[in-house]
Amino acid sequence: MVVVMAPGATDEQVAHVVEKVESVGGEAFVSKGVVRTIIGLVGDIDSFHHLNLRTLPGVADVHRISDPYKLVSRQHHPERSTVWVGRPGREVPIGPDTFTFIAGPCAVETADQTLEAARMAASAGATLLRGGAYKPRTSPYAFQGLGVTGLKILADVGELTGLPVVTEVVDARDVDVVVEHADMLQVGTRNMANFGLLQAVGRAGKPVLLKRGMTATVEEWLMAAEYIAQRGNLDVVLCERGIRTFEPATRNTLDLSAVPVVQSTSHLPIIVDPSHAAGRMDLVVPLSRASIGAGADGVIVDVHPDPETALCDGPQALHGTALRELAQAVRRMPPLLGRAPA
Ligand code: E4P
Ligand code: PEP
Repeated sequence: MVVVMAPGATDEQVAHVVEKVESVGGEAFVSKGVVRTIIGLVGDIDSFHHLNLRTLPGVADVHRISDPYKLVSRQHHPERSTVWVGRPGREVPIGPDTFTFIAGPCAVETADQTLEAARMAASAGATLLRGGAYKPRTSPYAFQGLGVTGLKILADVGELTGLPVVTEVVDARDVDVVVEHADMLQVGTRNMANFGLLQAVGRAGKPVLLKRGMTATVEEWLMAAEYIAQRGNLDVVLCERGIRTFEPATRNTLDLSAVPVVQSTSHLPIIVDPSHAAGRMDLVVPLSRASIGAGADGVIVDVHPDPETALCDGPQALHGTALRELAQAVRRMPPLLGRAPA
């Protein structure tokens, strides 16, 4: 069950609802959105009915949600949400009215390489900078990222270029330091079902980019988003990045049907990562165009000034002509579908 508070409901009114729910042995999870607060209830539905929650001051509505995920479900929240990333004054929207272009190096390697990649991203029209300081690698012998040094480089480059920064956190113990340096926290495919990490980023007070687990169904992915929302954070953006199938021609199989499927069941924004889906630079532009056509709220791509020397995922990094082609597609296509650049 979900209680939707009226816009402008006071903290006391929210606390009163929580108190009532707890008085009958239930649990209440409060999530504050930009416009309104919603409260997810866990416990005995019949005892909640006896509380007449709809009559309490500040309560706009009460919904019984049949989806296994409640706070991220579209059942109680018919309008699709917009998530704002970055500090006040230079926030970038990700949502249904805009198309957000995120680009940057797969991994932060050096200050020069990150700055150069960020400048490539900005001149192609990107308004958010991606970059990994903690790299989740299949092999323990592969480059694992620069850690805190990488976070500092990213924050400096974000400052210099004016681009808010999104970066991955792979361990709940690093959430605080990543929050200090980044505008948005990424949870990668390998950690989509790391429930401790999901709860930690849910409490972090910054927007979260939640990638789809490479073997996860859409429902499992939305349940993962629910873990974040349940800890108070509704600023979650989903990212389709390809799933494992029997097809070896691409690194993963980009499941573009996830875009409209998610949009019909959840109010959260959804973007696409064609770089990690394809694993090949030549497919990134066509898959980005297809993502725009499918209605995605944005794309996130890897760029690198010198992919041959990249320490992670060089073959999928855009540069040169391909990046220019993507810039053109991102500039021209979304307005045809009624979306403004973000
Ligand atoms: C993302 O950037 C991941 O860290 C990367 O794609 C993992 O690649 P690997 O399987 O070669 O380690
Ligand atoms: C990334 O974007 O750097 C990344 C690790 O992607 P994924 O989790 O999708 O593999």
